Amino acid sequence: MSVSSFTRFFCSSVSFGVALCLSLLLTVRGDSVLFRSNEYSTGALGFGPYQSFFSADFTPAEWNFVVPVNESAGAPSLSSGYIFSAPRGASVVQQGAAIYDQAGSLVWDGSVYGQTLAFSVVTYLGEPHIILWTGTANASGVGSGYNILLDSSYEVVANFTVNLEGPTGPTLADFHEAQITTNNTALMTAYQASPYDLSPLDGPTDGWILDSVMQELNITSNEPIFTWIASEHVNATECYNTFGTGGGSVAEAFDYFHINSIEKDSYGNYLISSRHCWAVYYLDGTSGDVIWSMGGKNSSFTMGNGTSFSWQHHARWVDLNETYATMTLFDNAGEFGQQQESMSRGLYLGVDFTNMNVELLMEFVPHNASISQSQGSVQIQPNGNFLVGCV
Ligand SMILES: *[C@@H]1O[C@H](CO)[C@@H](O)[C@H](O)[C@H]1NC(C)=O
Ligand SMILES: *[C@@H]1O[C@H](CO)[C@@H](O)[C@H](O)[C@H]1NC(C)=O
Ligand SMILES: *[C@@H]1O[C@H](CO)[C@@H](O)[C@H](O)[C@H]1NC(C)=O
Ligand SMILES: *[C@@H]1O[C@H](CO)[C@@H](O)[C@H](O)[C@H]1NC(C)=O
Ligand SMILES: *[C@@H]1O[C@H](CO)[C@@H](O)[C@H](O)[C@H]1NC(C)=O
Ligand SMILES: *[C@@H]1O[C@H](CO)[C@@H](O)[C@H](O)[C@H]1NC(C)=O
Ligand SMILES: *[C@@H]1O[C@H](CO)[C@@H](O)[C@H](O)[C@H]1NC(C)=O
Ligand SMILES: *[C@@H]1O[C@H](CO)[C@@H](O)[C@H](O)[C@H]1NC(C)=O
Ligand SMILES: *[C@@H]1O[C@H](CO)[C@@H](O)[C@H](O)[C@H]1NC(C)=O
Ligand SMILES: *[C@@H]1O[C@H](CO)[C@@H](O)[C@H](O)[C@H]1NC(C)=O
Repeated sequence: MSVSSFTRFFCSSVSFGVALCLSLLLTVRGDSVLFRSNEYSTGALGFGPYQSFFSADFTPAEWNFVVPVNESAGAPSLSSGYIFSAPRGASVVQQGAAIYDQAGSLVWDGSVYGQTLAFSVVTYLGEPHIILWTGTANASGVGSGYNILLDSSYEVVANFTVNLEGPTGPTLADFHEAQITTNNTALMTAYQASPYDLSPLDGPTDGWILDSVMQELNITSNEPIFTWIASEHVNATECYNTFGTGGGSVAEAFDYFHINSIEKDSYGNYLISSRHCWAVYYLDGTSGDVIWSMGGKNSSFTMGNGTSFSWQHHARWVDLNETYATMTLFDNAGEFGQQQESMSRGLYLGVDFTNMNVELLMEFVPHNASISQSQGSVQIQPNGNFLVGCV
């Protein structure tokens, strides 16, 4: 069992938990490269195939891929780096964080931290660190827990959560997002039950929502630098989640917004993704005002052919200036019991701020052309490849 130092890291991470179906999609070749899919699908390898070792009792996932490199065909090389994965749930023998090399061999096992999400490499105090979330995942698909930072010796150097008192008690960090800014502060998502008048949605006047929160925190002083609460800026009528019969109590608080990604840019503003509003929002980093929204019922942009998304995850800037930007996101296009399109897609979008148009630059289709009902990620790699994670 080798424990690698961080010096080789140039990372690819598959965020948001489960990565049982990983598609390695290159810009030129997007054909299926699966290895033992039939055995996986029929269960011939068992339910949740895993690796085992003589030297340690780790049981990380056995991957199902071959590396699609054919240099002589002029295909681009595989990007360098390790693969970060943190599967959870009943389909894996061992939950938690693990780092693999490109042959699928284990580099580091982090199962000691238990159920883990938001597992990736960040820069903290000028050095690469691992960030990961640990805690309780609630039935409603949100979490309450702590983020920890590990240094290049895999030692814990920080352990922190959201610093906020919600209407029903302390609000803890949710598992969807954990980032470190260039100022060494943390960005975290959180959820808290809050009273809300749901009568415009034919719900109770004295109803409850599961409100979405984002917070930037000074890790050393534990001072909140910026806290944004969705219900103070976006009306529940702007969103798409099915109201159903909930909303009458804290226990059945209505999750109208469902924040699932945050990024802070060099202008000091925040890009956040709302799964249940089918929109990404650009927030003023001082006032929290919505500068614009993209997608959803009230898009500030004309959405070009093939750019509409729904139930999405993982909105990230690739390049950004005042007139034009590129962005990646994972368009789930469906969720449990609801499906908007025939399949999910990884999206690479161009954003024109002069004409307020969004254009499709590239799309990436899952190997099985299937719907990922929850989770998903898209990462552009330094050599221009894309790494797409889905379930
Ligand atoms: C790689 O590409 C070359 C040139 O197109 C082709 O002749 C060869 O069969 C390919 N090899 C594989 C393993 O696909
Ligand atoms: C982080 O802090 C919380 C609260 O004190 C604690 O329950 C948890 O065990 C800590 N996690 C680690 C990895 O130290
Ligand atoms: C999630 O569950 C834990 C444990 O039951 C609870 O303490 C916490 O308040 C819940 N969080 C949310 C956001 O519902
Ligand atoms: C965070 O807090 C520390 C200690 O109080 C302080 O030195 C530092 O300037 C703060 N960082 C930011 C970005 O506010
Ligand atoms: C949300 O919008 C509805 C319909 O326009 C309005 O009646 C309601 O007061 C708004 N709710 C909040 C909290 O602003
Ligand atoms: C970093 O902190 C400085 C000083 O507080 C602030 O002006 C700047 O916007 C911050 N940058 C980011 C990316 O948070
Ligand atoms: C639509 O979005 C704009 C910001 O882009 C906001 O000012 C406005 O209130 C929103 N309208 C509705 C009906 O939600
Ligand atoms: C939209 O894109 C689809 C393929 O994704 C293409 O078939 C169709 O012609 C395009 N429509 C327009 C108006 O460009
Ligand atoms: C913004 O980026 C676009 C695309 O890379 C480029 O064409 C344009 O010149 C840039 N604008 C500014 C103001 O830098
Ligand atoms: C591919 O999709 C089919 C039909 O939805 C499904 O039955 C099968 O399990 C999927 N296979 C994999 C490997 O995901």
